Amino acid sequence: MLDVLSRGTPTCASTFFCNFAAVKKLYIETYGCQMNFADSEVVAAILKDQYELCIDVQDADLILINTCSIRDKAEQRIHKRLRELEALKRKRPHLQVGLLGCMAERMKEELFHSEPILNFIAGPDAYRSLPQLIEESAKGQLRFNVLLSEDETYADIMPVRYDLNGVSAFVSIMRGCNNFCSYCVVPYTRGRERSRNPKTILQEVEQLLRDGYKEVTLLGQNVNSYKWNDDGMDMTFAQLMEVVAKTSPDLRVRFATSHPKDISDELIETIARYDNICKYIHLPVQSGSNAVLKKMNRVYTREYYLDRVRKIKETMPDCALSTDIIAGFCGETLEDHEQTLSIMREVGYEYAYMFKYSERGGTMSAKRFPDDVPDEEKTRRLEEIIALQGELSLISNKRDIGKTFRVLVEGYSKRSHDYLYGRNSQNKVIIFPKGDHAPGEYIDVTVNECTGATLLGN
Ligand code: SAH
Ligand code: SF4
Ligand code: F3S
Repeated sequence: MLDVLSRGTPTCASTFFCNFAAVKKLYIETYGCQMNFADSEVVAAILKDQYELCIDVQDADLILINTCSIRDKAEQRIHKRLRELEALKRKRPHLQVGLLGCMAERMKEELFHSEPILNFIAGPDAYRSLPQLIEESAKGQLRFNVLLSEDETYADIMPVRYDLNGVSAFVSIMRGCNNFCSYCVVPYTRGRERSRNPKTILQEVEQLLRDGYKEVTLLGQNVNSYKWNDDGMDMTFAQLMEVVAKTSPDLRVRFATSHPKDISDELIETIARYDNICKYIHLPVQSGSNAVLKKMNRVYTREYYLDRVRKIKETMPDCALSTDIIAGFCGETLEDHEQTLSIMREVGYEYAYMFKYSERGGTMSAKRFPDDVPDEEKTRRLEEIIALQGELSLISNKRDIGKTFRVLVEGYSKRSHDYLYGRNSQNKVIIFPKGDHAPGEYIDVTVNECTGATLLGN
């Protein structure tokens, strides 16, 4: 089920194609978070008059690699990929290769020295300049644009949807991040937080509805600090969700990611009020220890976080929760680590994304705190966290046996075309016999079996 579950998780990669009437061929490869996937769709839209997208990298005249810098491993993976592409460039000397995204922003023109395959580099706020960068670099110059903007949201660009399931789509509602968690590169690679005009968000959602989409995920690094006050409108994230939910009762609304510091009662109550707002909240905790949370600059305490979880569960007993956890942050003691395990048990997460701390140059933690938990110990702690989450996911899935869920069908199971898969409101994947159903339909499925990762139903 990895193909299904990996969509938009922080370390996945994907390629896409589409049919445009154009001459040259473009191949885009995307790494990193959902925001990068949404950005690749914007890039495809910016270049659609000049390039036809292709599925085989061997056919490409232009290759764009949209990169992630979140952990060292993510960057190593890109370097390795660029090595692989060198042989192709030798075979096709006219081939242009451009690097986009967070790594472009973090490393800037320095990348031309380590990666001679590159013709141009564009940071996340510079995609409108791509046609120019491509044209100039075709003449043999190395070109780059890594300027960050205070207001770019690509609001007017209708992304080219490459997610061929045609059922669910990402809609970017804000860019950047102002939180400066001490370990994180995102505020440096994506710049300051800015919200997108709600009018254009609604136009995009309405277009998706006309195109037959059934689910939208509103995206931002910290969606609950969405704020719009211009153009005669004043809107919070809760209000925006409400307007989006009202566009059609058949449209499911999801969102990612929420920072625990501002998950307000207003927001929780809005989620509860609308059947079509999914009962699933990704609420990254990072650590269960107050000492570590403080060093991470997460600005909430364990107690505050648990109070928000209590409010969510009181208001919506069926709401699923997932989280992000970092193992082995600077100075993390065994006791701190135990606190992380205990908060996991206390919340009983349905799912978690779990990582070893990876020091990123330029961040507060790299400047201030030694990366002093040895790698083997980080691995050991991470393994403990992963094993515990496995138990928690299984417990949660077993509780679902015998229950009936409304599932939005996303596609055919990889293993057999006789089975379909979809998600319930809680974001759990459910696989069931196809019968005479098809992707895009809502079906009530009763769960009769499960693994830690998937529910099986009828
Ligand atoms: N904006 C989102 C998360 C963005 S990055 C939020 O605040 O929740 C996704 C996850 O990567 C983070 O939640 C964190 O768990 C992890 N992460 C970020 N920087 C990291 C680092 N330097 N080392 C390890 N994991 C990191
Ligand atoms: Fe990074 Fe924190 Fe911003 Fe999330 S909220 S993107 S972890 S700085
Ligand atoms: Fe990676 Fe940038 Fe997203 S660092 S996680 S692609 S915002």
